[in-house]
Amino acid sequence: MKERLAALAEAALAAIAGAADPVALDEAEKAWLGRKGELLSLMRGIGALPPDERAAFGQAVNAARARLDEAVAARREAFAAAHLAAELADTRFDPGEPPPPRARGHLHPLTQVRREVEEIFLGLGFDVVDGPEVETEAFNFDKLNIPAHHPARDSQDTFWLENGQVLRTHTSPVQLRGMLRAAGRPPVRLIAPGRVFRNEQPDATHEHTFHQVEGLMIDAGVSVADMKGVLALMLERLLGRAVEVRLRPHYFPFVEPGFELDLRPAGSGGRWLEMLGCGMVHPRVLAEGGLDPAAVSGWAFGMGLDRIALTRYAIDDLRWMMSGDLRFLQQF
Ligand code: PHE
Repeated sequence: MKERLAALAEAALAAIAGAADPVALDEAEKAWLGRKGELLSLMRGIGALPPDERAAFGQAVNAARARLDEAVAARREAFAAAHLAAELADTRFDPGEPPPPRARGHLHPLTQVRREVEEIFLGLGFDVVDGPEVETEAFNFDKLNIPAHHPARDSQDTFWLENGQVLRTHTSPVQLRGMLRAAGRPPVRLIAPGRVFRNEQPDATHEHTFHQVEGLMIDAGVSVADMKGVLALMLERLLGRAVEVRLRPHYFPFVEPGFELDLRPAGSGGRWLEMLGCGMVHPRVLAEGGLDPAAVSGWAFGMGLDRIALTRYAIDDLRWMMSGDLRFLQQF
């Protein structure tokens, strides 16, 4: 048994020394030292020895095992050192080079535009408020002076829930919520950015889901002139250039008079670009909001945020906005 152990240890050492790479070393370790390896099967023969020789033999096996383990560890270390040396010698690897820049996310173009609008209005003393995306029919339509069977309901067809509520078609219901929150005590100065929904066949300029920002200012003696001034200021800041604006009469059930606001670069004499809808809050809507139309007046506007982002970044298709496509998003 002793001689067999010595021969085995010798052969194992040779195998470890001869392993050409870490994989071969793992294999040699398994074959000689593993649970089904040669050393253990030799150990199992211990019962055949006379009892007084067993302890000594056991110690000899353990000593051999320790030597072999050490040899494996040393060889493994040698492989690691050689690997590192090779990497360091490789001129393509420069440990002094700074790491590549970490990939960082950034804000969606829509978020960028929304935050700019918010900053502008916060600076003018407006609050930024939120409202529910699932609205009651009353808040989205009736209380905004759009009764059932009103033609405006067709142009704002939307998604109806089984409980009779709707996905809001515009941010205008937040006007009402803002007025009610003021509890009859003007002034009310708020903007409400958010997602809106319509039953549209999506194409380059239509989406079932898009974004608006609503604005509302109510106090004693508020006029169309106030509205025009504030909106022109907002657009100038947003577009970063002096602009001319004009109001064109337009019908919206919840304002009277109502307008569409067009814009062009100041002094350009160029084409007018339609930007947003606005007008003086309809007396019925004021009353629905708990305010006295005889005592106060106010203006409101609604603007598409997607449209602003499309124009600003020269994006050719609205559907990119909600696509989540990184090839698109990484450009901003
Ligand atoms: N709510 C209107 C829309 O979505 C926009 C608007 C808001 C018009 C406020 C006038 C005043 O089309």
